[in-house]
Amino acid sequence: MPMLKLRHIKKYFAGVKALEDVNLEVTSGEIHALLGENGAGKSTLMKVISGAHLADEGEIIFENKPLLKTSPSISKSLGISIIYQEFSLVEDLSVAENIYLGKGSSMKWLNWNHINKSAEVLLHSLGFQINVRQKVAKLSIAEQQIVEIAKALSSDVKLLILDEPSAVLGTAELAKLFVLLRSLRDRGVAIIYISHHLDELLELTDRITVLKDGRSVETVFTKDISKDDLVTLMIGRSISQMYPQKRYTALDGKQIQINNLQTVMSVEPISLILNKGEILGIGGLVGAGRTEILDSLFGNYNNRAEIIIDNKKMVLRHPKGMIEGGWGMVPEDRKRLGGILPMSIKENISLTNLGKISNRWGFINLRKEKEIVLQLIQKLQIKIGSMDDPLASLSGGNQQKVILAKWLNVAPQVLLVDEPTRGVDVGARAEIYTIIQELADQGVYILMVSSDMDELMGLSDRIVIVRKGQLIGELQKSDFSEEIILRMALGAN
Ligand SMILES: Nc1ncnc2c1ncn2[C@@H]1O[C@H](COP(=O)(O)OP(=O)(O)OP(=O)(O)O)[C@@H](O)[C@H]1O
Ligand SMILES: [Mg+2]
Repeated sequence: MPMLKLRHIKKYFAGVKALEDVNLEVTSGEIHALLGENGAGKSTLMKVISGAHLADEGEIIFENKPLLKTSPSISKSLGISIIYQEFSLVEDLSVAENIYLGKGSSMKWLNWNHINKSAEVLLHSLGFQINVRQKVAKLSIAEQQIVEIAKALSSDVKLLILDEPSAVLGTAELAKLFVLLRSLRDRGVAIIYISHHLDELLELTDRITVLKDGRSVETVFTKDISKDDLVTLMIGRSISQMYPQKRYTALDGKQIQINNLQTVMSVEPISLILNKGEILGIGGLVGAGRTEILDSLFGNYNNRAEIIIDNKKMVLRHPKGMIEGGWGMVPEDRKRLGGILPMSIKENISLTNLGKISNRWGFINLRKEKEIVLQLIQKLQIKIGSMDDPLASLSGGNQQKVILAKWLNVAPQVLLVDEPTRGVDVGARAEIYTIIQELADQGVYILMVSSDMDELMGLSDRIVIVRKGQLIGELQKSDFSEEIILRMALGAN
């Protein structure tokens, strides 16, 4: 008997068909994956189950009872917990307050010592240590995700939904999460797990349902299916090659030298060389200080370094100055730093590049703007209704593509990319790799942080490894190995 049954679910948003016809059954004691391209409808479906959206048509049956007009609080009280793809924490509140927010009927009767203690015990039982009195705004995004998980588990849960939890976690946190999910499953919890990482789904889940254009196309037993077949089910074709052909040979021997870069995490300043035409990868564990290196280089911390580009000195400035100097950055945290959610897709793409489309009196050529934006949308296969819709109306992976499009539009001289394909489906990921490689081939200096080991090794020409904010080693393409990189990252060599 399935715990949850969905029948013929439909959901439209002002003309956009998010869900056409979805059928799904999830049983107690299974981990059920939901797989589908960006915009296929996964998050929308989860929000229908959690009561954040009401379905336009169809039936939800939970523990043999129809869930008619559900709401987040009704579904929560029935034991349905969800970890949303875009975080739902309140940044100004502490970790403990976030975990227990809305639990007591009256805030003033809450015993804070007790709450802090409970939050600590809960996090500890999940295998994590986070200062529960700290404001959420101070946490890294991996830590925020852990707090989301703790929050979802702070009350009795029968059905747990995780919408791309792994996108912001590192290897170590992910391993702990898997242990946790398996033990919940063994205690009879039903789990729905969404991820674009097929290896994860194959390792963790019992069954997989594939969603395509708002329809459930097939449910398979994980043990019976191969990675290639999954890709074909999902995107309707197989991918012959995930990573582009490499033909890097230093272009004209040109270089950028970064000397004595002081970052927030490094005790000693660090130095780096970028070669023209090369993709330099930065490897390391979550929290090792990789993002801080990119942030510092982009002038986010008001810090110093000597930067020499093709023998000319450049002053490291604030981000605005760096953008003017031809630097671009695709940040890790797209919600906070990458895009402006209430603004339109069009504005998000053309914002940094108004110079190209405005005349000498500063008027924007709207037709030209549209044309350029449309080309980029097609090139990156971004799934949108209209380019005037707000960025917020796009699925997570499509938001990521918009942010990439914005930087392609600027055509920077140096591009810093932090987790370029976070939340992006496999088909589109291959496209993005091709685009990044093309940029490098055209002579753009590329510095990339990635926690995805395949991506790091598949796309980089050279990798430097960061631990505790310091560069502790460097590998050439011929020496890439997951084991060596992990050993170096852990400090176990
Ligand atoms: N609030 C909204 N307003 C308008 N359209 C929406 C809204 N939420 C979702 N959509 C649209 O519904 C469709 C499905 O989006 P959804 O977020 O469910 O996709 P997804 O499968 O979760 O994709 P991803 O893998 O990128 O997270 C998309 O076309 C999206 O633009
Ligand atoms: Mg989604």
